[in-house]
Amino acid sequence: MAKAIRSNSGREITDRTTRIPTADGPRPGEVWLVGAGPGDPGLLTLRAAEALKRADLVLHDALPGRAVLRLLHPRAERVDVGKRRGAAPVSQAQINRRLVAAALAGQRVVRLKGGDPFIFGRGFEEVEALDAAGIPWFVVPGVSAGLAAPAAAGIPLTHRGLARSVTFVTGHDAEGALPDWAGATGTVAAFMALSRLDEVAVALIAAGRAPGTPVAIIAAASTPEQVTLRTTLGRCTLDAQRAGLPTPALVVIGEVVGLAAASARGAGVKAAVA
Ligand SMILES: C[S@@+](CC[C@H](N)C(=O)[O-])C[C@H]1O[C@@H](n2cnc3c(N)ncnc32)[C@H](O)[C@@H]1O
Repeated sequence: MAKAIRSNSGREITDRTTRIPTADGPRPGEVWLVGAGPGDPGLLTLRAAEALKRADLVLHDALPGRAVLRLLHPRAERVDVGKRRGAAPVSQAQINRRLVAAALAGQRVVRLKGGDPFIFGRGFEEVEALDAAGIPWFVVPGVSAGLAAPAAAGIPLTHRGLARSVTFVTGHDAEGALPDWAGATGTVAAFMALSRLDEVAVALIAAGRAPGTPVAIIAAASTPEQVTLRTTLGRCTLDAQRAGLPTPALVVIGEVVGLAAASARGAGVKAAVA
């Protein structure tokens, strides 16, 4: 067994606990935050699939598709807490309360989120509510769209000599403000950015990116509707408007996008607007 590492004051500063569960599914009174991946059930982890089969209650977002939800046990209660156009949204506070109440009632609870629960998924807000109520929680990481969508389009996020870093950003935060793009060097993978693509492109150009920088918008990655639009920073708003892409979509910006275009073998690449 590895030796404990201590700080100068003698306090042990190593920690071997893990929040990734080792059981097949939640025990009564536990909540598991489970990543559903980008849509294709084949991209679920084995642990996520087992957890779905064993849960009494599954609270899920709009993103996990029907194919993933088919894995639930027929007796499991399934609650859709995702945002729907035209429907009253379920607030984060309501979700937190439901999770806590179900766990206190002894249910085996799965909170299923698209991609990875801790990437732009508000996962830790739920953890804080569970901690406050003394409820054991675990997290099953998922394949984030930030990884899956570029892969689906044959785009490497890093490449020797072209991109030594990747920045995951959100197109908007809770207050609606755009992030500070100046710090985003290398490849940029922007979540929730399609509706504000004009502002994103202008801000990135203002931060020093060339208007000719290659951009790929990968929509509905890993689903039968997947389509990739290849464009540039200077043209992406217009091209995206013309293409009428499905949602959700990830916007990848950087020289690596040009590599996939050159290879012209990116799986699922359908549209290329000149
Ligand atoms: C609220 S965020 C959740 C991200 C998620 N936690 C993850 O790790 O992928 C939703 C955004 O993820 C991206 N996204 C999720 N699934 C996607 C998919 N199948 N194809 C492309 N983008 C996707 C889109 O940018 C979408 O607006």
